[in-house]
Amino acid sequence: MEIVESIESLQQQLAHARAAGKTIAFVPTMGFLHAGHLSLLEEGRRRGDVLVLSIFVNPTQFGQGEDFEDYPRDLQQDCALAEAVGVDLVFAPSSAAMYPRGYATEVNVSGITAGLCGASRPTHFRGVCTVVTKLFNIVQPHVALFGSKDFQQLAVVKRLTQDLNLPIEIIGMPIYREADGLAMSSRNVYLDSEQRRQSLALSQAITLAQDLVKQGEGEVATVIAAVSRHLGAQSLIRSDYVAICHQLTLEPQQRIDKDSVLLIAAFVGQTRLIDNGYLMDLS
Ligand code: PAF
Repeated sequence: MEIVESIESLQQQLAHARAAGKTIAFVPTMGFLHAGHLSLLEEGRRRGDVLVLSIFVNPTQFGQGEDFEDYPRDLQQDCALAEAVGVDLVFAPSSAAMYPRGYATEVNVSGITAGLCGASRPTHFRGVCTVVTKLFNIVQPHVALFGSKDFQQLAVVKRLTQDLNLPIEIIGMPIYREADGLAMSSRNVYLDSEQRRQSLALSQAITLAQDLVKQGEGEVATVIAAVSRHLGAQSLIRSDYVAICHQLTLEPQQRIDKDSVLLIAAFVGQTRLIDNGYLMDLS
């Protein structure tokens, strides 16, 4: 496995691989890898001859007062984990390389970025779309893998890829959970033990909603009210949004159907967590 910081040398290596007819699989991350990331890498290993992992804590997707400075980083441990799952190239550029002096271009997807996380983090998806487009142009993968905990991000990246005619297959991988149900996230390290205990309310609320739907509940408002009540019962949780949307358009729905996905964002103390789950067709 090789760790590459320079954009040019990564491009050179990948140009050789492409010329030799190799398929390139790509997993973009902000590092501090957990088992969820490793599941993306394992799937990438199966799908590509060359597996590229990027580790870059992208400053442009953090808003003012968010956790850019504090975001957990451990390149050495990430590289050990990456090597163990068979990554070929770790691309770990500096901010100066990604956004050199004079950098002035942004990529903006409208519509599906407006609500949900986009409503409370208005500049977030512009930063994500900009860096993902740059990474796609640098790596030029055949296949790229994303986790579906960031459900809106995945939908936005699919939209971007389609709208900009990028010849990349986008694969969404299932949410990876701790044994007790908490969705894995690099931000879980911020939680103290009481916050960690209360954070279980997010995944519990999803199960509760799925059970209600199984019992025949079809009204979105009723399910949202039950989920909000469950979250509200935890003293350290402040809900950011609870929404039930169509899985492709992310438009809010009135009635639950096979395309309904429940999306939750909540602060547990200072830590903002997200989770989601389909409400029907759980097979
Ligand atoms: O999901 C993430 O870790 C980031 O948003 C991504 C896609 C790597 C872009 O910085």
